[in-house]
Amino acid sequence: MHGCTIKKLVCILFLCIVTEGVFSAEEPPSSTIVLENPACIECHEKQNRVIVNEWRVSAHAITNPVVNCVSCHGRLHKNLASNARQNESCISCHGSEKDPVIHSYSSSKHGILMRLEENSYNWSKSFRLANYRSPGCGYCHMHQNNHNVSTTVRHDLMSDLETESVQDKTRAVCQDCHSPRYITHLFSNNEAMLEVGRKKVREADHFIEQAAKEFSDNELTYVKKQLKIMQQHLKNVYLGGGHQSPDYQWWHGQPALDGDLLRIKDRLGELHRTKQ
Ligand code: HEC
Ligand code: HEC
Ligand code: HEC
Ligand code: HEC
Ligand code: HEC
Repeated sequence: MHGCTIKKLVCILFLCIVTEGVFSAEEPPSSTIVLENPACIECHEKQNRVIVNEWRVSAHAITNPVVNCVSCHGRLHKNLASNARQNESCISCHGSEKDPVIHSYSSSKHGILMRLEENSYNWSKSFRLANYRSPGCGYCHMHQNNHNVSTTVRHDLMSDLETESVQDKTRAVCQDCHSPRYITHLFSNNEAMLEVGRKKVREADHFIEQAAKEFSDNELTYVKKQLKIMQQHLKNVYLGGGHQSPDYQWWHGQPALDGDLLRIKDRLGELHRTKQ
């Protein structure tokens, strides 16, 4: 009996010493001190290297100016994660309401539901617990606390090389709330739609390449500009699929690409006629 208590005491004492030694440098700082990014990194590297490493290889860490811990979490060690989980922390940088990235989300069912319900959500809960009814930016792009947002998007719309790895990550997100069958069906529709869009861009590209044998850069200025616009409209189709906005899949996507292609063909036809 006595022995036991003494052992317990020794244990507790020992734990206290160990705890002191390992964690004292890693106590959260007082919530009133204004912190800068190097301090966040220094302390959190010791605490959870994974987060810092994921962030380091993301587009956020290699862009200029850098999007760092403070950009999303703020400078005071208080409500740090709850602030970052809310769309406002992403939207402040990712464009105005009219920017396609933001607008494709806000015109989706998720965006509409979020607008109606965001004030009633408990933002102190980790996304991992999946107790949010509708997903916001961070829910999808930082699922399971993934601080490398770059692993959640593909970087070349004309190629489908990255599709699978990106979609495996996304699938896990969607399946917090939807059935696997539904998601597989949606994803294959999206890819089919994107491929139709790519065909239109390739067709325009091909016409312009042919025309470059006959016409000067100057004569082709208009069609080249139009080809750039096509890339933007292809991105709309992509965002329409990614952010599940029917408006972007249809109105801002395919019909816009059809219009671009027609304008390119018309201008090339005109160039041919005037040359003859
Ligand atoms: C002196 C060490 C130290 C510094 C400096 C520090 N942190 Fe922390 N941070 C901690 C510890 C320890 C915890 C875990 C304890 C807790 O949850 O309060 C933590 C928790 C967090 C959390 C999770 C809190 C939550 O709401 O779930 C976030 C986010 C965070 N820190 C971000 C930051 C950012 C951003 C900075 C710089 C502005 C920073 N930290 C600076 C030690 C530190
Ligand atoms: C692009 C915005 C963004 C950046 C940049 C960012 N974070 Fe976070 N961070 C978040 C979001 C959103 C969450 C909530 C994730 C969740 O609930 O799963 C989070 C969660 C955390 C947590 C809590 C993890 C947990 O287990 O609950 C810590 C700690 C943290 N971030 C530290 C950092 C540090 C350190 C940096 C800089 C190296 C950093 N973050 C950079 C958005 C960001
Ligand atoms: C329902 C999940 C979901 C939500 C919510 C969401 N996204 Fe996305 N986002 C995606 C998917 C899926 C893609 C396309 C990924 C792919 O296939 O490459 C994407 C693509 C993107 C891209 C890449 C666009 C480009 O230029 O290449 C950015 C940036 C982005 N989202 C930012 C945001 C922001 C900001 C918000 C909040 C306003 C948000 N997302 C909300 C799932 C989501
Ligand atoms: C301080 C500004 C800022 C904040 C805050 C911010 N971002 Fe970003 N984000 C950027 C910049 C700049 C890029 C790189 C732009 C580019 O290369 O097109 C980027 C890129 C991205 C990408 C694309 C990654 C890639 O590899 O192309 C995604 C997805 C993304 N951010 C999501 C988010 C989410 C989700 C949040 C909120 C939790 C957020 N961002 C907060 C500025 C920000
Ligand atoms: C946090 C939960 C949650 C996540 C994660 C989520 N959704 Fe949803 N989604 C909802 C809710 C809630 C609705 C609206 C209710 C409804 O229509 O069933 C919805 C609606 C939709 C709709 C519109 C359905 C319709 O009838 O118009 C589509 C499409 C959709 N989600 C696709 C996705 C995809 C794809 C992903 C992953 C990239 C995803 N969702 C991730 C909760 C979620």
